[in-house]
Amino acid sequence: MHSTNSVIVRPARNVLGSLRLPGDKSISHRYAMLAALAPGRSRFENFAPGADCASTLGCVHALGCTVERDEQGAVSVVGLGLQLRAPFDPLDCGNSGSTMRMLAGIVAGQPFTSEMIGDASLSRRPMKRIIEPLTSMGAEIRAAEGDCAPLQITGTRLHGIDYLPPVASAQVKTSVLFAGLLAEGKTTVEEPSRTRDHGELALRAFGATVEGSRNTLTIRGGQILHAVEAFVPGDISSAAFFLCAAAIFPESNLVIDGVLLNPTRSALLDVLTAIGSRVSMVRVEEQHGELVGTVTLVPGSGRAITIAGAQTPLLIDELPVLAAIAPFAGGLEVRDAAELRVKESDRLSAVTQNLRAMGAQVQQTADGWRIPGSQKLHGAEIESFGDHRIAMAFAIAALRAEGETVIRNAECVAISYPGFFADLEKLVER
Ligand code: S3P
Repeated sequence: MHSTNSVIVRPARNVLGSLRLPGDKSISHRYAMLAALAPGRSRFENFAPGADCASTLGCVHALGCTVERDEQGAVSVVGLGLQLRAPFDPLDCGNSGSTMRMLAGIVAGQPFTSEMIGDASLSRRPMKRIIEPLTSMGAEIRAAEGDCAPLQITGTRLHGIDYLPPVASAQVKTSVLFAGLLAEGKTTVEEPSRTRDHGELALRAFGATVEGSRNTLTIRGGQILHAVEAFVPGDISSAAFFLCAAAIFPESNLVIDGVLLNPTRSALLDVLTAIGSRVSMVRVEEQHGELVGTVTLVPGSGRAITIAGAQTPLLIDELPVLAAIAPFAGGLEVRDAAELRVKESDRLSAVTQNLRAMGAQVQQTADGWRIPGSQKLHGAEIESFGDHRIAMAFAIAALRAEGETVIRNAECVAISYPGFFADLEKLVER
């Protein structure tokens, strides 16, 4: 440790071993929100331990549901049915865009007014993408300048709409489907490009009928949900850091058990194969519509790759770490990733600045990067910008750099993965 908020990462020789990961963040958010709308007790093992999902649980509690954590660490939510209770205080979404955007779809269909607030980063992020559809369904929404949080949402009896979101966003799709569950008539969302499908799979797991597949989905309002018991699969976006670390050490060998293998989330495995690693999936099974299994990775020679078009939204959370290892691999070109500018930080600039601090050559474009391969990097002071995925991505790059790296404000890893540094230390050989 460098100071209370900095972590020093020393170079490694190898990445070796096996691990299981904390529950998937995207699935945990959705399960907790739908549990609130399902009468009775839902119980989730391996629920995501990070601050983001704690924000969702806090909001669900504020909306009248009992939330408990038992001795085994499982989370229970006692749902009220489709009508929740008016919160006494603002719904605090913390750093979590998923909480604010998806829960907005639920409070928009309630007979009361909710205020939704977030931290400084979340209060800069665009909310127009959910304000527009939810308003056209009948909700009244007031926002701060620039259509940002805090949001004041006066719910109502919503009516179904046909919606074509202008951006490919699973949060927007899910928000509108959740609102559609509470609306009169049918609601259809047609996405410009396919995004992660956990919203529709979770709705089905809780007993709702959602028609369609791939880019177009329809839900009928007023369906009664039932409570669910589930084991949340390991988060593949957290696994990404270790898989990418293993991919850049010739002698590494990594096994990850019980990890989410949903095809709308596992594009990373195709990318790692394309750069030359041998990736295999075994013991694959389905749990509540989600594929789960064991992944093993043995590295190979680095090949240059391009990520663009419909592939980009499917890799959106993995792009920072793919960029961070690209100089040690065969290089990387990313296009169509302007959405990275409006994540927890401006991830396009954060990655560029930190790669350059480590001595890398990188060209930043309007919507991506060009990063040559076969570069030598040195340790540096890395700024996390309070963004968990930036801190973790550069902890991985630091393993192959010459000399020590200091990750500043590294405590932000707790947003999605509080045990990240401890798990990393267990896997690296020095
Ligand atoms: C998420 C969708 C993505 C992703 C985020 C989680 C989700 O955001 O970046 O970490 O759980 O639906 P967008 O919907 O803004 O693309």
